Amino acid sequence: MDRIYDKVFRGIAFTSKSPQEVSALEDYLFCLDEEGVIRRILKPQDPDYGTVMAAYSGTEKLHALAEGQYFLPGFIDLHIHAPQWAQAGTAMDIPLHDWLDTYTFPLESKFSDLDFARKVYQDLVTTLLANGTTTALYFATVHKEASYLLAQICADKGQRGLVGKVVMDDKSENPEYYRDESTEAALADTESFIHLVQELNETTKQGVYPVVTPRFIPSCTDEALAGLGELAKKYDTHIQSHCSESDWEHNYVLDRMHKSDTFALHEMGLLQDKAVMAHAVFLSDADADLFAETGTAIAHCPVSNVCFSNGVLPAARFTRKGIDIGLGTDISGGFSPSLFDNIRQAVISSRMLEEGVDPSLPSAERGLPQSRISANEAFYYATAGGGQSLSLPIGRLEENYIWDVQVIDVSAPNAKLPLFDENISMEDLLHKILFLSRPDNIREVWVQGECVHKRT
Ligand code: GUN
Ligand code: FE
Repeated sequence: MDRIYDKVFRGIAFTSKSPQEVSALEDYLFCLDEEGVIRRILKPQDPDYGTVMAAYSGTEKLHALAEGQYFLPGFIDLHIHAPQWAQAGTAMDIPLHDWLDTYTFPLESKFSDLDFARKVYQDLVTTLLANGTTTALYFATVHKEASYLLAQICADKGQRGLVGKVVMDDKSENPEYYRDESTEAALADTESFIHLVQELNETTKQGVYPVVTPRFIPSCTDEALAGLGELAKKYDTHIQSHCSESDWEHNYVLDRMHKSDTFALHEMGLLQDKAVMAHAVFLSDADADLFAETGTAIAHCPVSNVCFSNGVLPAARFTRKGIDIGLGTDISGGFSPSLFDNIRQAVISSRMLEEGVDPSLPSAERGLPQSRISANEAFYYATAGGGQSLSLPIGRLEENYIWDVQVIDVSAPNAKLPLFDENISMEDLLHKILFLSRPDNIREVWVQGECVHKRT
């Protein structure tokens, strides 16, 4: 056979079949085209398997995993504030409103300085890749130039970045030192940012995308919100914001808009298939139905929610309703850049929601039944669910999906996983990988068929 494929990968791969079911594809071949798309998948029993192996063995096009190594889809971080990487790990014990005013806005205002922005953004994108995150949906800052710099850094380092210039135009709600100059300027900057990033996308193999980004309703005027809805429609862009995150924010919107975040955002044209709303902890049934109807996704940020939300997202219930859900680190509301950590916290928080946490209550009154999610579901959120949320062919190892993967090495020096049963099931092995892996176990990361991180 001619060597028609650009690259062929061989190994054991995990990929979600559904939110509840994971497939372990043992020793399959993944045949890529030059665009980094999986054109063909062959199982060992396939008649063409031997032919492809014979054609590619001994060539540099074949990438075969060694024993103890596994392919996982690259993770998709569905909600992250890039500038806040500089303060990750600090100030997690104060309420959201104070945290924004005393820590976050002063920090974000410093991103008018492009040298500072470059330092932080380069370090962040490198760190995320080393943690297995191949796609990220970013909030940058109000500054158009620094936001564009983040898109350029993603493009250069090989990460698929979806980047938003943040809009905060309401003069009464935002500090003078950190806000858009005016509503008109916020909309004009957003439009020119969309043009710049769409142009950059034309020369970026893995894709970079502009995202219409009202920070949240409390920071935007009605006029800006409606204008952003129109821009998203005009340029067919992604949209992101925060929705019903905390008691304070949820009640602020009810007071001002006389309706929930969800209905207010919908009225402004901000809910649609390529919209991703962070948190969504306090959705009513009607809100949740509107998410499902409009195809709007939830970026579930379980680590952040422990500190800054006042509840736990009923993820299992919303998945049953058919809402798309992915996972976000919410740096720096969440301290960790790792979606492994967020997979773990998603499972843990869901168990606490189901069981309840106040031991003085009788067990029957303590929790919310049917709230737990399995490790498989959390894995789904971090991969296939994220891809579905962004309407991109990523997050699954299937034909016509993009080859974004991380290679996990369970016997990495200094990071050996405790595996003492030779007959461990593939599902148990995956769960050990999800709960115990550290960055040391992530040997390689590939985006769109290109190696973007290698641990030596
Ligand atoms: N709501 C508005 N801005 C933010 C932010 O930066 N982080 C979080 N967690 N919530 C927000
Ligand atoms: Fe956030």
